[in-house]
Amino acid sequence: MSGFVNQLTLYFILEVLSSPFLVLSTATHCAMAAAEATSEIRKQALRVFDSEEEVSVSLAKYTAELSEKFVREKRAFTTVLSGGTLIETLRKLTEPPYLESVDWAKWHVFWVDERVVPKDHKDSNYKLAFDGFLSKVAIPSNQVYAINDTLSAEGAAKDYETVLKHLVNVGLLPLSSVTGYPVFDLMLLGMGPDGHIASLFPGHPLLNEREKWVTFIKDSPKPPPERITFTMPVIKSSAYVAMVVTGAGEVHAVSKALGSEKRSSDLLPVEMASLEDGEFTWFTDKAAVSMLKDKASM
Ligand SMILES: *[C@@H]1O[C@H](CO)[C@@H](O)[C@H](O)[C@H]1NC(C)=O
Repeated sequence: MSGFVNQLTLYFILEVLSSPFLVLSTATHCAMAAAEATSEIRKQALRVFDSEEEVSVSLAKYTAELSEKFVREKRAFTTVLSGGTLIETLRKLTEPPYLESVDWAKWHVFWVDERVVPKDHKDSNYKLAFDGFLSKVAIPSNQVYAINDTLSAEGAAKDYETVLKHLVNVGLLPLSSVTGYPVFDLMLLGMGPDGHIASLFPGHPLLNEREKWVTFIKDSPKPPPERITFTMPVIKSSAYVAMVVTGAGEVHAVSKALGSEKRSSDLLPVEMASLEDGEFTWFTDKAAVSMLKDKASM
């Protein structure tokens, strides 16, 4: 059943790349484009799976295919990780066949946000990713761009942006011809129950940052308070975003972000992240979209 859903979704992703929005119902196995999508929502696709396990399988396949595509096209693959449950859901990528088939030596790994703590601290996104992912695959350590954990939040954000600018200068990161911001191949993102992505929280002034690529926050509503984060324009400039949401914890934010009642005011950070020129795919399980089904007029 889920195999069928997956194929159907893939088919429609190709079909709707330039149309507003896709809602796929697992209940009825039919797909439709939501009529009321606003210009804020473009090129988004929704994949719904029966279980978190199936999300993990599909996310691994998707990531491996993008890796192959970008390595073929430009001999490098730039991937941006986040914290939370994302790393756990990526686990299938560290197993056969991907463990052997992915060209790990071409990977360059970044973080969409990071806590300003030592790299061996339990709150560190680097540590989370190292323990659950990076320690299991053969990515050269000089292609893993952790924050400099000896610096202040402000210093670490500046340092990270300097590193990104260097990678633009050496030709690893292209600048978007549309936005002028760096373009990452794939961002693997999660979302909080409040609809935050990276360390960009609802209603926070950092959402409006347009100059910097990387900035810092000292009053994160979620502990720890000090973090660095990519800014919204950088996220929006991605070539591909996988928004991975499983379980019931985020049902309200998912329902608002994907529901048909759209208002342009009062957008959640996840809703602001529509891509300028990329493909945004939601990877969800049934629990995550359980409030959405009621709303879908199938
Ligand atoms: C981190 O920053 C400190 C202070 O500027 C510097 O001495 C050190 O070399 C940096 N570490 C790395 C890994 O870049």
